Amino acid sequence: MRFGTPYDEVYAENAFVPEKESRLSVLANAVSYGTGTFEGIRACWNPDHQELYLLQARAHYERMARSARILGLEPPHGPDQLVHLTAELLRRNGVRADAYVRPLLLQAGEQLAVRMHDCGTRLYLAATPMPDDYIDRRGVRCTVSAWRRTADAAVPNRAKVIGSYAGPALAKTEALRNGFDEAIMLTGDGYVAEATTSNVLIRTGERWATPAATDDILAGITRSQVMRLLREHTGAVVEERRVHRSELYSCDEALLCGTAVLVTPVVEVDGRPVGDGHPGETTLAVQRLLQAISRREEADHPEWTTPVYGAARC
Ligand SMILES: Cc1ncc(COP(=O)(O)O)c(C=O)c1O
Repeated sequence: MRFGTPYDEVYAENAFVPEKESRLSVLANAVSYGTGTFEGIRACWNPDHQELYLLQARAHYERMARSARILGLEPPHGPDQLVHLTAELLRRNGVRADAYVRPLLLQAGEQLAVRMHDCGTRLYLAATPMPDDYIDRRGVRCTVSAWRRTADAAVPNRAKVIGSYAGPALAKTEALRNGFDEAIMLTGDGYVAEATTSNVLIRTGERWATPAATDDILAGITRSQVMRLLREHTGAVVEERRVHRSELYSCDEALLCGTAVLVTPVVEVDGRPVGDGHPGETTLAVQRLLQAISRREEADHPEWTTPVYGAARC
């Protein structure tokens, strides 16, 4: 099954139902206006444990609750219940492989009014297989996009608004058509923001830097994990600050991080090699570490994972 093909059962409007029977009206408010918020959660299969682990599920639902507050939506359940429903969805589908869960809190009512209130907020959960080759983890070639991030004063990026992904979609297509793997987007005033669905970290000399949460990014959960692992395992200084475009062109190491890409080295930006043009050693070490943590092959940070089947040592 390819990425995006749903497993047989989904959670739609308060019940688990066969995906074929789940229905969202063509006149649902969110279909026309992108009104709603979503998350993406990784589930990692460990064949030795015969266990599937949700990675940072609670953190994702805490973020969804904050997004809902910004948008003025009422989630039907709190984060703990949503983690429980997510595990149940994967169990019902008998998932025993890497997977990706898509929670959606959207305006599903048949309402063509452009507004955020009274549009029938509904929760949906679906899961799809997560392929190994989603991104080339050996390193990607990036370009700085002509498409910029929207300002927080226009669309709140931190609320992960469904409709706000048209900009990143344009940037991704532009990058691929121009022969790159991924786009890095700037803020309206020309500072580095993030890639289309992942955050950016760079190392220059001893110091790591990543655009601040106030630079129109989605402050990723993986970004927090990577900053933490860098500090814990290398003792490195990691700054959250404004990052110039020219720093992308002159840094010694760069990486993308996010739920889908996990940790991916950047080897080139706009034709300039990052460092010596090979994946950075620290990047590869953090990549290995996070991959191991996500399957509990590594004792560090078991609090970041939740067993789905409950068979493993917690
Ligand atoms: C725009 C954007 N930035 C960054 C990220 C990475 O966030 P996370 O690590 O929470 O998946 C995502 C993924 O959801 C995203 O869509």
